[in-house]
Amino acid sequence: MTSFAHCITHWQRHFGRHDLPWQGCRDPYPVWLSEIMLQQTQVTTVSGYFPRFMAHFPDVRALAAAPLDAVFSLWAGLGYYARARNLHACAVKVVAAHGGKFPETAAALAELPGIGRSTAAAIAAFAYSERAAILDGNVKRVLCRCFAIEGVPVGTVEKELWALASSLLPASVDMSVYTQGLMDLGATLCIARKPRCPECPLATSCLAWQQGRVQDLPTPKIKTRKPQRRSEFLLITDGKNILLQRRPPTGIWGGLLTPPEGLERLLDFGLSARNLQTLPPRTHVFTHFRLEIHPYLCRVEQMLLFVSEPGLECLTLEDALQAGVPAPVSRLLREVMALTSDKRDI
Ligand code: ADE
Repeated sequence: MTSFAHCITHWQRHFGRHDLPWQGCRDPYPVWLSEIMLQQTQVTTVSGYFPRFMAHFPDVRALAAAPLDAVFSLWAGLGYYARARNLHACAVKVVAAHGGKFPETAAALAELPGIGRSTAAAIAAFAYSERAAILDGNVKRVLCRCFAIEGVPVGTVEKELWALASSLLPASVDMSVYTQGLMDLGATLCIARKPRCPECPLATSCLAWQQGRVQDLPTPKIKTRKPQRRSEFLLITDGKNILLQRRPPTGIWGGLLTPPEGLERLLDFGLSARNLQTLPPRTHVFTHFRLEIHPYLCRVEQMLLFVSEPGLECLTLEDALQAGVPAPVSRLLREVMALTSDKRDI
């Protein structure tokens, strides 16, 4: 075994994480589900969502048979909703093309929707003990520091890192311990800011630590300011119900319910801008842009007028919160509930 792998596995056994809700199980379904949830989301957040999701969809057939809406509603708040759509598409494919059984190699897993090379390797390592290398953002940081690899870890540098990660794989060790160890090290000690180097099992061999360059590696990418978009959200409510619009399946928040957008739409609804209450603007940051949301509360006597247009849905505020709405919208719905509570109490 390379000393790198030995350090990682020994450290994982003594100091790594052992009681996360998805650990200790080699069934590929929960392994896959947790890895997808963990792609862009912190362990603490996923720890709440994962058991709920498993309770609703205990196996891949249950998930494949569910309407996409039901998946969105359990995913709401986790963000990056393309993951939920791919998750469902993947379950459908596993049932339709593989008889409900996940493929048993990283290469075959990587053919499924939403499963990239690193996620496929993680699933194969955890579920089938395959010797497959992972390379997520945390692992890139560990390798760039330990081996003093310069350059932003994309393109050719990323290729170099894949080769390195593969060369470091242990020959005879529990792959799930090694893989979990790499993840745990990157998440708890070799963190971006204020890494805990004196506690690190790699400290004696880490080139960045020896050279005093831990803070400079990995080479940061040059940050460009994200473009800003602006949208007016119309919160049309009678105090009990709210008008929402189903978004097109692709694009931001694809397939989710959000308030109708644009003050000009008031005309479509035969409403006047005079009775609007301006709520504080807020910004939601997406991967590629910032969305400045300007919410307007529009109280109406009754909602019946609005339900005829395709895509528009009139839901009670409580039901809307249970449906698949993005986190900033659920925050707004709660604000609307607080602002109109007098109406609902009577
Ligand atoms: N991040 C990605 N996969 C993970 C896992 N299995 N455990 C903890 N953090 C992770």
